[in-house]
Amino acid sequence: MINCLKKTSEILHARENEISPVGFVPTMGNLHEGHISLLEQALREFKVVYFSIFVNPKQFGPSEDFHRYPRTLENDLSLIEKSIKSFPGSKVVVFAPENAEEIFPPSHHEVLSVCGLSTILEGKIRPGHFDGVATVVYRLFDLIKPSKAYFGLKDFQQYLVIKQMVKDLSLPIKIQGMPIIRETQGLALSSRNQYLSPDQKSLALLLFNTLTKIKEIIGHKKMNLPKAKLFIEDIIKDPNWNYLELRDSETFSEDLTSSTNITILAVYQMGTTRLLDNMQVEVQ
Ligand code: PAJ
Repeated sequence: MINCLKKTSEILHARENEISPVGFVPTMGNLHEGHISLLEQALREFKVVYFSIFVNPKQFGPSEDFHRYPRTLENDLSLIEKSIKSFPGSKVVVFAPENAEEIFPPSHHEVLSVCGLSTILEGKIRPGHFDGVATVVYRLFDLIKPSKAYFGLKDFQQYLVIKQMVKDLSLPIKIQGMPIIRETQGLALSSRNQYLSPDQKSLALLLFNTLTKIKEIIGHKKMNLPKAKLFIEDIIKDPNWNYLELRDSETFSEDLTSSTNITILAVYQMGTTRLLDNMQVEVQ
């Protein structure tokens, strides 16, 4: 059975006795192949990987799905155990705090806010979300002191927020962005996909197909951007798009004049479920 620590005192003790550098994968559990791809990359690079499973209350708004977010610890541990078999000699330490006070004791008053990045797009729709993410990730970094941490590019804005936080605070941690893992037809894997009915799931392909279409229109050429923008203007007449935007992949700016890589970011509202995805395109 894999070592699963539930208390902050246990994780601090384990970390203190670690001689090797540590790779780190933070998650909220209900693991799928997307999460496992981060773990496997960490295991390719580190003999010791810390993996956290914590549904962070600070990043959910009052009307969001914190209470019904799927919690499947036993199954998560089996998936981790299965992947570690391909990495003999490696060790995974799972940190699954038994309650929120382990991470945020009543004496914890810190809130981290990455200004600017946290209040646009996803941050505009979910006020306080990225403050909650930055605060918990900083806290986990502080406990685990990893050399490198792995984040999925599925949550591209989150990845940029964390990179900016690490830069601003001069934390000695490398941040690695990892490719989006998708179902065969294109839907990006997400713990929230299970909220979808079979019908909604096939309709959800609209998101991937639209991103693919916009990428095709751009076709690696900046001169095609006006055409892509016209296409977007027409598409977003459907009010189910929370947003559908083009941003520079490095600066996250809307100004694409000197961009060499553009990210097409979108959220499509499918009933009560928000489907989030993005696609990158190199441009000349
Ligand atoms: P969670 O949604 O569980 O995701 C954990 C990590 O897995 C994130 O870095 C996310 O981008 C990545 N991930 C999710 N789906 C993916 C996919 N289809 N392909 C590749 N990577 C994928 O993101 C969070 O948790 C939280 O905000 C967290 C960072 C843990 C802070 O609470």
